[in-house]
Amino acid sequence: MEVKNVKGTRDIFGKDSTSFQYVESVMKAVAELYGFDEMRPPVLEHSEVFVRGVGEGSDVVRKEMYTFLDKGGRSLTLRPEFTAGIIRTIVQNKLYATADLPIKQYYSGPVFRYERPQLGRYRQFNQFGVELVGANNPTLDVEVIVLGYTILATLGFTDVTLKINTLGDDKSREDYKAALKDFFSQHIENMCPDCKSRYELNPLRILDCKVKEDQEIVRHAPKINEYLSEEAQERFEKVCRSLELLEIPFEVDDTLVRGLDYYSETVFEFHYTSKKGQNYGAIGAGGHYDKLVSEFGGPDMHGVGFSFGIERVVNVMSDDEILPDNPNPLINYLIPLTEDENDAALMIATALRVAGYRTEICLDGTKLGTMIKKAVKKNAKFAIIIGESELEQNSVLVKNLSTSEQELVGAGDLIEYIDSILESEKHECECCGDDCDCDCDGDHEHCCCGHHHKKED
Ligand code: HAM
Repeated sequence: MEVKNVKGTRDIFGKDSTSFQYVESVMKAVAELYGFDEMRPPVLEHSEVFVRGVGEGSDVVRKEMYTFLDKGGRSLTLRPEFTAGIIRTIVQNKLYATADLPIKQYYSGPVFRYERPQLGRYRQFNQFGVELVGANNPTLDVEVIVLGYTILATLGFTDVTLKINTLGDDKSREDYKAALKDFFSQHIENMCPDCKSRYELNPLRILDCKVKEDQEIVRHAPKINEYLSEEAQERFEKVCRSLELLEIPFEVDDTLVRGLDYYSETVFEFHYTSKKGQNYGAIGAGGHYDKLVSEFGGPDMHGVGFSFGIERVVNVMSDDEILPDNPNPLINYLIPLTEDENDAALMIATALRVAGYRTEICLDGTKLGTMIKKAVKKNAKFAIIIGESELEQNSVLVKNLSTSEQELVGAGDLIEYIDSILESEKHECECCGDDCDCDCDGDHEHCCCGHHHKKED
């Protein structure tokens, strides 16, 4: 019987894997620029972490968790998100007492949700995110939103829609929930089964219903801003003002409530519709929370964070062709012509790798033309040929595969030679000012630096 992958999971390899690596590396680099460090919580947690953290009323906990009893009879869950596990780690290790506050962590890895697989929705998918914990300041909400926005801008996104809303403080939210219950009491009989259970568990979530007929009812529901306390109103206005100051475009969406129960005050989502018109749902989302740390037995501390769905980010970038073709190109393809040159090839390859050049050795021992073709197929910059006569002269024949020029170079001078050719081909990138070594001159659709050059730029 043929064994296939589990429904809702994906095999990521080849070009996809390169794209994932590229996207994750940009996300990590920008998060580090903002002073965040990496944290790697376990994939497996006691189920309680998510039941308490994400909330019993959330769809994630009610319907979507991969929960099982281990051989010792403990209820364990494959993480459906990172935030609860990160906070559990912070509290268990008392990081709030030893680290400088706020604690700033980024993370990436697989998460698991039993959802109906569809466009942009998987059962195992990857998230990259950040959590900033231990301070309650609207400016930090903005800092985190700007970080998310900057990550997307660095990846080459131009038209991101940032939706934000406030869920207010406890008092505002309780008053608002009561008003919603009152309003929906006249309609709930005719609404979808999900709305019916949300009405009991968390009426805020009714605002998020995707059923068309229900959305029409939701349109007339009371709005959160009518129930905000003065402090909550001021806090949200501060967030909006700072975003305006930083010229980050945003839309206030008063139906944005988020699906996880821990949020309070600022919530936000990043949306993007690819040029082909594909909408994968939010590509990233997050918000402020005020009870998670104390829920796990820590002090009364607030936090704010977001997570991107890496599959969705890669999917839209692929649709819009803003993924770099070859972000980590092969520089050298070494071709020993016979077995007698294999050891020399090994030594030269080691030196090139130590110098930081991605290098492979071809041990096919077939016709030179066939091996050169393989180097071209692999997009190598240089084919470095070592035959009997080269070995005798302690040299190699370097063929520049983009110009077809070739030159005999002494083995001891090889690295300097490669350095100088690559250096001579560099030019200032049109969009970021970095030195690039591709020959796009800003004319190509995208540059080796990963940035998207528009022809009119
Ligand atoms: P979330 O909205 O549940 O938030 O997920 C964050 C992102 O993960 C979504 O915007 C989406 O891009 C992606 N995502 C969610 N479900 C799927 C799926 N089934 N398949 C593919 N991608 C998916 C959280 O997880 C919160 N922990 C975010 C956060 C961090 N809030 C505060 N800190």
